[in-house]
Amino acid sequence: MSEEEIILEVEGLTSSYRGTFGVVTAVEDFTLKIYKGDVVAIAGESGSGKSTFAEIITGTPKPMLHHDAGRVSVEGYDIYTGKGPAGPGSYAQTPRGLVRMTEILVIFYLLYLVTFNRPLFFIFTGIGLIGFLVRYWYVKRENEKNEGKEDLSVRIDPEILRNEVKTKIMSYVPQASLDSLNPVLKLIDFIENVVEERTGGTFDGVIPGVTATAGNLSRNERKQGLIKFAGDHFERVGLDREVLFKYPHELSGGMKQRAVIAISTMWNPKLLIVDEPTSALDVSSQKKIVKMLYEMKQAGIIETILFVSHDVSTLSQICNKMLIMYSGQIQEYGDMEDIVKEPLHPYSKLLMDSIVSFDPSGKNKKRLESIDGAPPNLKDPPKGCRFYDRCPEAMDHCKTQEPPVYNLIEKDRLVKCWLYEEEAKL
Ligand SMILES: Nc1ncnc2c1ncn2[C@@H]1O[C@H](COP(=O)(O)OP(=O)(O)OP(=O)(O)O)[C@@H](O)[C@H]1O
Ligand code: SF4
Ligand SMILES: [Mg+2]
Repeated sequence: MSEEEIILEVEGLTSSYRGTFGVVTAVEDFTLKIYKGDVVAIAGESGSGKSTFAEIITGTPKPMLHHDAGRVSVEGYDIYTGKGPAGPGSYAQTPRGLVRMTEILVIFYLLYLVTFNRPLFFIFTGIGLIGFLVRYWYVKRENEKNEGKEDLSVRIDPEILRNEVKTKIMSYVPQASLDSLNPVLKLIDFIENVVEERTGGTFDGVIPGVTATAGNLSRNERKQGLIKFAGDHFERVGLDREVLFKYPHELSGGMKQRAVIAISTMWNPKLLIVDEPTSALDVSSQKKIVKMLYEMKQAGIIETILFVSHDVSTLSQICNKMLIMYSGQIQEYGDMEDIVKEPLHPYSKLLMDSIVSFDPSGKNKKRLESIDGAPPNLKDPPKGCRFYDRCPEAMDHCKTQEPPVYNLIEKDRLVKCWLYEEEAKL
């Protein structure tokens, strides 16, 4: 596939929780490309790092979670280094030294203004002015140079970039997102708050078809525009527009989850990340969520989905790719059907075996059963393969040497296991 079709690229991504409990490295050395249009199942036992991976790629992790190393690029925007294609929000950064110099000169200028020491006053005013002109010229030149260019060296303020990416390119529905709705606000008022927060209160550009500069409208006009826009979207994704005027406690668990997904997709994200949207719901609500996501994908409302779940039969209904995680690391990645039919990694094999009667139609629902043994402690993981203690195919050197992630080109599969060392050379 061509490079343009990549929506998400992670390279050497490592992140950890840091606190009084120590350091827990929950995502380690992830390298992966996700292509546009893919619906990727992320599976693995509890504690394998699925949610951490989902959170760290959004660029806005919770305070204890740290981005330690590696690159996360979403639609060409490198969200941790601030590099990306030239576009809205991008600007040439003035070298720090130059900024400091002009700031120091302004302080001197003010000091001499107070003391009325004329010769020094003129000297410092002159130097300060020259500093400002150089700074202005530099920024102008850099911006002109980069205008309209797909220049990956253009730096974007990481904060602006994360907001840009998070509002316009990707949307994240975290685990237990049902609690993210405000219990004292009707859904439409909650949406209004979200919009106000994201646009700094201006509403600019968020109600397509109404106005590009909603800031010129009265509060009531803006609200009416938002009600129409949100109502149309809710109907488009199969929800009644009346749901907008309900409080969260007036909705069932399934309806609340669908409303959260509807809100998260109001601005047609290219990439939707949903973490366990069906857990704790009854079978009929689970089906409705899967159907909703499937239809949104078919209708082009969302382009690419990362779907975290333990439930392989649910995943198999809409996913075409599968990522299997264990102990914070990628174990296998490839075509969903191929992995289900012919898992390569010993851990994947056990996972698939544990689903007694896997049924791709999704009629016979089975969840990933636990397999014998327990994953290692992520505070102090073993040196070799992390699956060694539980692996029925373990070899001696697996205990001390960590396997690399092999790319089996013919099978279009990534697999982290010494068993594939020879095959990877072919
Ligand atoms: N806030 C936190 N502080 C410290 N460690 C954490 C924190 N959140 C998660 N962890 C640890 O990070 C590891 C990965 O957790 P994560 O929640 O990403 O797993 P998961 O695969 O999503 O699990 P589940 O299927 O139960 O949701 C686990 O070992 C977990 O104990
Ligand atoms: S590297 Fe060795 S211990 Fe690890 S999964 Fe492969 S065979 Fe098993
Ligand atoms: Mg989780």
